[in-house]
Amino acid sequence: MAGPTVEFWQTRFESGNVPWDRGSANPQLEQWIAAGMIGPGTTMLVPGCGRGWEVAALAAHGVHATGVDYASGAIDACARLLQSQGLAAELFQADVLDWQPAAPVDAVYEQTCLCALHPDHWRAYADQLRAWIRPGGRLFALFVQAIAEESGQGFVKGPPYHCDIHAMRALFPARDWEWPAPPYPRLASNPAFQELAVVLTRKG
Ligand SMILES: C[S@@+](CC[C@H](N)C(=O)[O-])C[C@H]1O[C@@H](n2cnc3c(N)ncnc32)[C@H](O)[C@@H]1O
Repeated sequence: MAGPTVEFWQTRFESGNVPWDRGSANPQLEQWIAAGMIGPGTTMLVPGCGRGWEVAALAAHGVHATGVDYASGAIDACARLLQSQGLAAELFQADVLDWQPAAPVDAVYEQTCLCALHPDHWRAYADQLRAWIRPGGRLFALFVQAIAEESGQGFVKGPPYHCDIHAMRALFPARDWEWPAPPYPRLASNPAFQELAVVLTRKG
């Protein structure tokens, strides 16, 4: 399999080398919640949830949140975070490329899972996201902007793998997804990279 392995990520969690981790929920998620775009009772998946700050923020807001990550270090940390805050969420230690929820969900929160996957797997992951979300449901996406100099010579460099907007349009085509008109908010709240915040709606 091209790209990082589960051992790569597990080692990161064990050593505490997690530069993507804010230590709190993404402020964009808090904004979407405050704007009423994610309400209590929503069923929502967080693939590649890591230590789970966003899973906890969603659960605290009454969302039926499910975190999925294949690294035990991530799932254990997320479980501890939920417990420390007296919150409940479902957690699965599984590969996002083959895991399936019991039923389609209202929404997915995609933050730094796509950019953690080698682009060879992007088509399969995008197909998973489409299958997980019910028609009319939403994909709350933070597309990581991390252009590597080597990409100018054709090298595929990551993680994080740069989620260029043209590639995103190809992965989530207008045939299947409703795109809002740009410009999209560009967040610099993580010192390691910037993110484009886009909410897509799954067509029927
Ligand atoms: C860059 S970290 C981001 C974690 C979290 N989303 C955050 O922003 O703090 C990428 C996460 O995706 C997980 N991951 C990568 N590939 C995965 C796969 N194929 N299946 C499940 N989890 C995966 C890693 O274990 C890691 O926790």
